[in-house]
Amino acid sequence: MQSIKVKSPATLSNLCCGFDILGMALNEPYDIIELSKIDEHKIIIRHTDEFNLPTDPKHNIAGVALQSMMDALNYEGGFDIIIEKKIKPGSGIGSSAASAAGIVVAANELLGKPFNKKQLVAFAMEGELLASGSRHADNLAPCIYGGLVLIRDTSSLDIIELDTPPLFITIVHPQIEIKTSYAREILPKEVSLKSAVTQWANVAGLVSGFLKYDYQLISRSLQDVIVEPVRSKLIPGFDEVKKMGIEAGALGGGISGSGPSLFMLSENQNIAKSVESDMKLIYNHLGIDYKTYVSTVAKSGVEVI
Ligand code: HSE
Repeated sequence: MQSIKVKSPATLSNLCCGFDILGMALNEPYDIIELSKIDEHKIIIRHTDEFNLPTDPKHNIAGVALQSMMDALNYEGGFDIIIEKKIKPGSGIGSSAASAAGIVVAANELLGKPFNKKQLVAFAMEGELLASGSRHADNLAPCIYGGLVLIRDTSSLDIIELDTPPLFITIVHPQIEIKTSYAREILPKEVSLKSAVTQWANVAGLVSGFLKYDYQLISRSLQDVIVEPVRSKLIPGFDEVKKMGIEAGALGGGISGSGPSLFMLSENQNIAKSVESDMKLIYNHLGIDYKTYVSTVAKSGVEVI
């Protein structure tokens, strides 16, 4: 095989209380990445979108992730990459992870699958480090594994795949920019024992709710007392989206990843669509451009197409 095309999904990370440890792959939106082998030992990157991302492989997330994989293999050839990003960079739905994960999965396929999923997450994390200045896998792991995953330990990449009941995810992406590095810098370095107890009780409740298909437990557990109070101040419309989403029947929601996108989870598509209409009303009223998506959980991660 000389070339391959993959679809790399957006991901919803944190899921409120699970900062840096929970993430879910989404069916919408996704990037398309095409990768071809070349003889020369270099990486060529081309974009067919309007985002003006760097094409120098040392400064490109996909380039950095691919290079770390090539180094591990002492690979002497090179690659030509064409990226069509549909997940806007800086949206909070795993745009950088989709680039990094998509490229390493594609290269792994082209090279006869020398690496397993966990190793692919490790290579992709080099790209994520460039994007956000920190190593976290809560977008990358679901992007590669699909479904909902728990990263119990990031340094050893102890990744646990979890089941979920049917879920509909409504996302609104107000077109404002929040850099992940900034959204991480402003977080408290220490938390009180009281907040920690509330947070880990909710994480345990949320994971139990997913595994038991208990929507009410999921709903009660979608609470974040540590990160959301700080980051939500950066996102106009946050309180209104949450309030109207709950009134429309959603289970709960909050900030998607480091924002600015917001998400609400629902049990069925009708509720998810009515949440979407409310989100549109809110941002029309605020006069802020936005994009919305209604998605389901993507059972598989990056897929060859
Ligand atoms: N868990 C990360 C954060 C996701 O919230 O900063 C963003 O990449």
